[in-house]
Amino acid sequence: MRVRITPGPTVEGTVRVPGDKSIAHRWLILAATARGRSALVDLPGSLDVRSTASSLAGVSGKAGPALEAWASNDPSSAEGHGSTWNVRVPGSVVTPLEVEGEGRAGLIAPTRDLDCGNAGTAMRLLAGVMASAPYHSVLTGDGSLRARPMDRVAEPLRAMGAGIETDEGHAPLRIDGGGLVGITYPTEVPTAQVKSAILFAGLDADGLTTVVEPAPTRDHTERAIRALGGPILLEGSAISVSRFQHDGFDAAVPGDPSSAAFLVAAAAISGSELTIDDLGLNPTRLHYLEVLARMGVRTERRIEREELGEPVGQLWVAPCPGLRSVRVEASEIPLIIDEIPMLAMLAQLANGDSRFSGAGELKVKESDRLTAIAQGIIDLGGHAGVEGDDLVVVGGGLDGGRAVSGGDHRMAMALIAAAIGARGPVEVEGAEVAAVSFPGFVETLSRLGASIEVLA
Ligand code: S3P
Repeated sequence: MRVRITPGPTVEGTVRVPGDKSIAHRWLILAATARGRSALVDLPGSLDVRSTASSLAGVSGKAGPALEAWASNDPSSAEGHGSTWNVRVPGSVVTPLEVEGEGRAGLIAPTRDLDCGNAGTAMRLLAGVMASAPYHSVLTGDGSLRARPMDRVAEPLRAMGAGIETDEGHAPLRIDGGGLVGITYPTEVPTAQVKSAILFAGLDADGLTTVVEPAPTRDHTERAIRALGGPILLEGSAISVSRFQHDGFDAAVPGDPSSAAFLVAAAAISGSELTIDDLGLNPTRLHYLEVLARMGVRTERRIEREELGEPVGQLWVAPCPGLRSVRVEASEIPLIIDEIPMLAMLAQLANGDSRFSGAGELKVKESDRLTAIAQGIIDLGGHAGVEGDDLVVVGGGLDGGRAVSGGDHRMAMALIAAAIGARGPVEVEGAEVAAVSFPGFVETLSRLGASIEVLA
């Protein structure tokens, strides 16, 4: 899908965004491995989350049909049917996805390869689950996922006792699970995916399993385990769990702050006011708001409730009088890992040089995002470059022109949002990939006032 954005119109109003992808992966896994019934509402219909649901269906008995049906549901269905995206149609019923779990020990041997699609989180988290199931399973995915590093998750799970073969460090992962014992594992790079895989494995292992993080990362797994009554210990940078079987639970997935980031950016660019309701306000996901504050974008948040240990509430974006350039330190990167494409595009719309230091992890995301961001800025008439692991953005605005998503959902959305502040029209090729995390992104942005035409 090719879209054409005409810069100018303000993006403002009140909106919800699809449910949080990171949380949805985890809660689906926890529902499928619970003892008893769980009900999840506001699951995002994003393709990544569907991959987790359909992979779980492949190893679930009673829950299999419901998970499979949800995974293959039409994402734009107005009532949601469990796959709600960004609007609650007035008067509609948001049907929960009901999952009848039979406990971790109730998982069944897969009769097919588990296809994680484009989702790195699905593959790494499911590796942690399948590492303890006494079966042979194969986790695979699309070309992008099969190019991403998997040794980082295979290594600790092998140390716990699982047999895991990779294709020279890449998927497919061939797992012979069962008989795990706890370990203490310092992760080399700060990654919530690997941390979570080890913690999920640790919930079904003998003894204590401890992950030591080099820097804090998103803590959705820890919060959910604690909310379910699980034995989770936090001591500085060390997170420990031991064997625990949880019961079913009910929860509503909060809006995804990483998806909201693109709308916040669009509002900031157009100097207008925006309110986002029912948003996840977990502090490990909101560091981008601190970076935005340094760039001149003022926001306020209000926590209204909790869902399975996650704070949920409202985010308000004040009209932004003008954007400033920014310096982002390497220590900040893990907490803004998914928002860097958006922050970099905003930095290009400011005057003056910006630098994102130590952002090398971006080279192994859905695409080599470091290069893709610089290229996207250059394609639209701006100036940016990669210096080692640093991204340097020259600033001064974007002329307009044509850019490509490269099959990366966050690149597609960053380019489209930035186009609102360009000097001339922008065409973005491959915009359909936004649905990987934000089904309905173009429609949402249009409804808020942006001028976006779907060309093909
Ligand atoms: C995620 C963690 C991050 C992030 C990804 C989702 C998660 O990856 O980039 O989009 O849900 O745990 P890393 O932890 O590998 O950096």
